[in-house]
Amino acid sequence: MPHYVSLGTIPHKRHTQFRKPDGQLYAEELFSTEGFSSDSSLLYHIYPPTRIFKTDAPVDVTPKISEEKMLKHRCFLGFNIKPETDYLDSRKAILLNSDVILSLAAPAKGTGNYFFKNADSDEVIFIHEGEGVLHTPYGELPFGYGDYIVIPRGCVYQINFKTEKNRLLVVEAHSPVRYPKKYLSPYGQLLESSPYCERDIRVPQNLNPINQEGDFLVKAKKKGMLYGFHYKNHPFDVVGWDGCCYPFAFSIHDFEPITGRIHQPPPVHLTFEGRNFVICSFVPRKYDYHPLSIPAPYNHSNIDSDELLYYVDGQFMSRKHVERGMITLHPGGIPHGPQPGAAEKSIGKTETEELAVMIDTFHPLELTNYALEIEDPNYINSWVE
Ligand SMILES: [Fe+2]
Repeated sequence: MPHYVSLGTIPHKRHTQFRKPDGQLYAEELFSTEGFSSDSSLLYHIYPPTRIFKTDAPVDVTPKISEEKMLKHRCFLGFNIKPETDYLDSRKAILLNSDVILSLAAPAKGTGNYFFKNADSDEVIFIHEGEGVLHTPYGELPFGYGDYIVIPRGCVYQINFKTEKNRLLVVEAHSPVRYPKKYLSPYGQLLESSPYCERDIRVPQNLNPINQEGDFLVKAKKKGMLYGFHYKNHPFDVVGWDGCCYPFAFSIHDFEPITGRIHQPPPVHLTFEGRNFVICSFVPRKYDYHPLSIPAPYNHSNIDSDELLYYVDGQFMSRKHVERGMITLHPGGIPHGPQPGAAEKSIGKTETEELAVMIDTFHPLELTNYALEIEDPNYINSWVE
């Protein structure tokens, strides 16, 4: 992410001698997700971040595809995903393509005594229920209801929850997740017209380097395999860092909606973007104020994207029988719109309390076994009286 952050102790000049109290050099690490040609950070470790002494046999965690091709409106009851104790076990991939993996999770516990690193995907974890702390080499990120936690690929983390009742929507993106280009100045500042700004971005805090040697298991995920690496020292041994590539949190409640006299199109809800997908936030807002306006969305043809809507909270004006955690998927190729009567019923309404996350992918999504297990098969008929 573009804005510069510095935390802890760092040397005056990069790539120069920076010594520990015992006279030894700190181990400098450049961290980026796109080589040396995009945003990066420099971290200063007590120990080199390379001290692997043992590896475990890899475990295959590739999602099982049940429907590779389909053209049908679908609906999934997300809260029917069963809770699991372990954080990684709890993440159930439901939809995916070559750009993203979308998962639901109800973890009762966090990562416990291991560390996790997604080696080929940036992660966006939307916290529907639960609160806790994400621990990283960059410091801590406390999180709660409505937060998007954005973690660059390669960042080692541990996640801890306060209670056992947690519901997450996880986006794994095989490309960097960025602020939308249209919100940025040519030099990377969020523009005045953007629905959020740098002040809304919560960066890591409480950097407490852990100087500890022992056996520290980092589970690293790459291409559907989970690899175990045992390190000689605690991964959170960073005494200082600076740069523009780091995990952060942004609350959906800090997204300032853009409204108008007539219905505004979905791109006003744009929040993050990656290669061939976008993440949008639908938040409580005033409705359109033209005297003849129709607040309900118009029917539209999404020929070049699959539209996924994850219902979070509040009343939804365009659809009856919505429950929390429900996902609708409108694949590119069939027009969709409000249910019968919803347009007429919306006239005169002045505001909405709806809260939802939309993910549009520009290539078709495939369905996994978990998606079929939680599907509402009657959804396809919900537009007829
Ligand atoms: Fe739509």
